[in-house]
Amino acid sequence: MGLSTEEPAPDFAGLRVFAFESRMAVETVSLIERFGGRAAVVPAMREVPLQDNHAAFEFAARLLSGKIDLAIFLTGVGVRELFRVMETRYTREQLVKALAGVVTVARGPKPVAALRELGLAARLTIPEPNTWREILSSLSKSVQLDAKRVAVQEYGISNHDLIAGLEARGALVFEVPVYRWSLPEERGPLRTAACAIAKGEADVVLFTSSAQVTNLIQLADAAGVGPEIRRRMREIVVGSIGPVCSQELRTHGIEPDFEPAHPKLGHLIKEAAARGAKILQQKRSQRAAIIEVRQPGDATANRIESSLLAEHPLMRACRREPVPYTPIWLMRQAGRYLPQYRRVRDRHPFLEMCRQPDLAAEVTVTTVERLGVDAAIIFADILLPLLPMGVGLKYEGGDGPMIERPVRTEADVQNLLDVPVAESLGFVAEAIRIVRRALSKRTPLIGFAGAPFTLASYLVEGGSSRQYQATKTLMYTDPPVWHQIMELLARITAEYLKLQVEAGADVLQLFDSWVGSLGPDDYRRFVLPYTRRVIAAMPPGVPVIHFGTVTGTLLELMREAGGDVIGLDWRVDLAEAWHRLGYDIGVQGNLDPVALFAEIPEIKRRAREILDRAGGRPGLIFNLGHGILPETPVDHVIALVDMVHEMSAR
Ligand code: CP3
Repeated sequence: MGLSTEEPAPDFAGLRVFAFESRMAVETVSLIERFGGRAAVVPAMREVPLQDNHAAFEFAARLLSGKIDLAIFLTGVGVRELFRVMETRYTREQLVKALAGVVTVARGPKPVAALRELGLAARLTIPEPNTWREILSSLSKSVQLDAKRVAVQEYGISNHDLIAGLEARGALVFEVPVYRWSLPEERGPLRTAACAIAKGEADVVLFTSSAQVTNLIQLADAAGVGPEIRRRMREIVVGSIGPVCSQELRTHGIEPDFEPAHPKLGHLIKEAAARGAKILQQKRSQRAAIIEVRQPGDATANRIESSLLAEHPLMRACRREPVPYTPIWLMRQAGRYLPQYRRVRDRHPFLEMCRQPDLAAEVTVTTVERLGVDAAIIFADILLPLLPMGVGLKYEGGDGPMIERPVRTEADVQNLLDVPVAESLGFVAEAIRIVRRALSKRTPLIGFAGAPFTLASYLVEGGSSRQYQATKTLMYTDPPVWHQIMELLARITAEYLKLQVEAGADVLQLFDSWVGSLGPDDYRRFVLPYTRRVIAAMPPGVPVIHFGTVTGTLLELMREAGGDVIGLDWRVDLAEAWHRLGYDIGVQGNLDPVALFAEIPEIKRRAREILDRAGGRPGLIFNLGHGILPETPVDHVIALVDMVHEMSAR
């Protein structure tokens, strides 16, 4: 085989190469060694036949009764396994005859070969790189999908993008999972490999499937080395077999360095050998930190710094002590209205921004510097704790976050994965540590979480909602399941907030954004105990801001649930609300976010009105009544911050 002239000869020259093959482990080791690498190959997964193959039998039954119009076969192994299962009940002849009357689609050469073994020719073969995109575009060109009954043979991780794309084109999709990937029975070697990579003992890491990525990261998180392994991956060579695998890497905040020209193990190893040393050298020399991180000083300096922070106007306001000026920050201050946010966001999906601690830290810090606000709020999202539960949280659609598998029954609750918060959300803690060190102006840092009700509303509805119909229906028809969900969310939220405090958050805000959809009786019975439990679990000395919207009839109950400061939206009169709450608690708010679209004099009039209503009482934090809107003019935001400081100066 001749080498192309631009590529150097494949030679790892002693680099340490990690790979995760199971079936091809021996071949992998010998190829890496042949190219001069030091190989570490550990299995990252195990193929588990589903205990009950209902879907395979259901597929056979539908096929034989003419209820399938189109069948998509994603893998060769899956096709063979599907037939092995179906042939325990039906004859191959029957099945093959029925399939001949269906439009068969094969994703690439392997399912083509498997179908050929059965005497079938695939009607349509999808070209390389065989991802869901090619499947959808090939199908759109050649078949009418609307109202067609489409079966999708799946193997390993279900392909949600493909299913969603088919459904969007009007197909009635029937998923036929045949196998799934699971962690290997013996996890020790994979855990050891994860820790070794995290410690910097790998130069090259090669992935030949997306399930390897998922499992490695899952074990790394469980071993507490999640943030380190992600960081290391930015310093070493990461090879990915193809786009599906690369996509999985990116969802974990890891950018692959290359994909081979052909999605084959041999090509992957050879290209890694040819390009590894150069990529490694480039990545190591480019490691200029995005944020200049001050080295942690000696203990005395740290102590002086933290006592300075305790005297910051925002911290004093939380304790209702007199302040030189009214502190202000803005909910959702780092967002799409800000050009510097959009610049980062153009290059990275939202989840990736959250998962890469230095990106999250950068956005957090530059926002504070740009706006001149009195607090940083860590760049994250209230729904992140739902990620490790395995409900399919996605931020890709245009209508805000989506949960693919909403939780509505006891069985759904049982199916939720229980991953320890510290491991699975370690990237938020890491971002907080970076921000804490970078905030040279001694600005307080706010950590936050969604309150159990608001989180539950996303979990049950599957996304944003107007009426909270599914959430309240569950609450009213199946209280035990509702209480189970709330209990779980309260436990996770408390753990998550404590993690943030340990990492360096100075203040916490609990967002119960949608709780205003409930009346007081329901709040008292279905929500209050859980919010109270979360707030009561917070370490002493860390102020908690308890926020909600449309809470005019709930304020006293929110106070009962806890918090040092209660968030007010613009629908209430601040003076009246504070009077009702009592002056032994702070308030935060409450400018209408839309006021920022008005001319500066009008903004000023409204801001002054709020300060006046607070009557100079200690314990006011100026904020909007809800998050800043995406089209808000940045100069109006900065003007607001300045005018609040000026007008309130004493
Ligand atoms: O305040 C900040 O600057 C810190 C970051 C922050 C985000 N979300 C980032 C984000 C905070 C504090 C949140 C809280 C949040 N997230 C809440 C409570 C506050 C509120 O507005 O009530 C809620 C309900 C969510 C859930 C959520 N996340 C929604 C509804 C959306 C989509 C709609 C929207 O407002 O953009 C998100 C995505 C999200 N969270 C974005 C950001 C910057 C936009 C992502 C993008 O760029 O596409």
